[in-house]
Amino acid sequence: MTKTINGFSKLSKQEKINWLGEHFTAEPHAFSNEISAWQHPDAQVQRVLDGFTENAIANFVLPYSIAPNFLINGKTYAIPMVIEESSVVAAASSAAKFWQERGGFHAEVLGTVKLGQVHFRWFGAPARLHQIFPDIRSRLLDSCADLVVNMEKRGGGILDITLLDFEHVEPDYYQLRVSFETCDSMGANFVNSVLERFAATLEDFFTDYSKLSDAERDVEVIMSILSNYTPDCLVRAWVECPISSFSDLARSQGMDAVTLAERFALAVRIAQIDPYRATTHNKGIYNGIDAVVLATGNDFRAIEACGHTYAGRDGQYRSLSTCVVRDGMFRFELEVPLAMGTVGGLTALHPLAKRSLEILGNPSARELMCITAVVGLAQNFGAVRSLVTTGIQQGHMKMHLTNILNHLGASEEEAAAAQHIFQAQTVSFSSVRAFLEERR
Ligand code: MEV
Repeated sequence: MTKTINGFSKLSKQEKINWLGEHFTAEPHAFSNEISAWQHPDAQVQRVLDGFTENAIANFVLPYSIAPNFLINGKTYAIPMVIEESSVVAAASSAAKFWQERGGFHAEVLGTVKLGQVHFRWFGAPARLHQIFPDIRSRLLDSCADLVVNMEKRGGGILDITLLDFEHVEPDYYQLRVSFETCDSMGANFVNSVLERFAATLEDFFTDYSKLSDAERDVEVIMSILSNYTPDCLVRAWVECPISSFSDLARSQGMDAVTLAERFALAVRIAQIDPYRATTHNKGIYNGIDAVVLATGNDFRAIEACGHTYAGRDGQYRSLSTCVVRDGMFRFELEVPLAMGTVGGLTALHPLAKRSLEILGNPSARELMCITAVVGLAQNFGAVRSLVTTGIQQGHMKMHLTNILNHLGASEEEAAAAQHIFQAQTVSFSSVRAFLEERR
């Protein structure tokens, strides 16, 4: 039976499911029933969800969780998080509680500049291009007046256009690098529309600009697209407290507060020094950031790609967070680029993204950047705190036990007994299965 198909996108949803079931599963009927069960009960909502992508056949569900008690810049938030990993929300909530009693989290936006590029080739002398660039620039700006008018009304628009010359590394290759302020929107559509207009204008310019010789008229636009690397769309989040306020936590781990704080700071320095550790360390930060980014309908791939480039900006991949233990004080800080929006895109379309923003008090993009960075910092704090004390398996396995019990179809009574017994025993799939078999 051939498994290729022409015109899959033209089939109705049920036809797609039937075709998949027949060609790729052992039990087409059961497959169809199961997939059909993962539709939203409200047909109108389902239509909106289906509209997000091509060939949608069902909804892939992830937990929508809340991490409460986040005190950020003096305001308390309950933060929606979408993530499948067992211990992330528990760790965020626990870190939130810990810092709530120690002055809370602080955050400030350091910049909100978005970037885009028009990549092109020009075959004249580089100096000549630089000479005529002021005229190109003003023609570009004039050409997109209709596209920027609304953004300008909201206080944003095009901030600058620079001409970058890569001629020394790739013959005839230049770039327009354009910076934007996109206010509360992530701005991808706005930026890309302006860039494509710029590309067309650039070609027109070289056709009709009177001061060019025939040999200078040849221009080739290669592509126009936003850059997801936005190092100046940046937010800083931090926590700070006297080292002595780690005393209870440290005592419970058989350490003194200074030892705990110094072990923590060393763990962060290790992630500054070693890219292998830095990758895992930053992954922990993105456990928190991605979960908020997803819950608010933002683009987690863009945000991760940007953050990892930023983490390697001096040529070596390093931790995004830093920790200083000095003069009796502990300060833990995260600086991370976050190009986020609270209007447009999925934020308005996805019913739960809308609810997330409501729960957060319908924040501006700047406020959402602060909230998201704080969750990244909280997550990083929770992970490193565990790593330098108990190790992470204790917390992980507690949550993992629930997954194993569900997988093995444990009843409520069996689950309660297992939770009790496995407080003092190592959790593994086989040990939990053996426990259930013995009881059964
Ligand atoms: C697990 O998802 C994240 C951690 O590995 C992060 C870290 O090691 O810092 C616990």
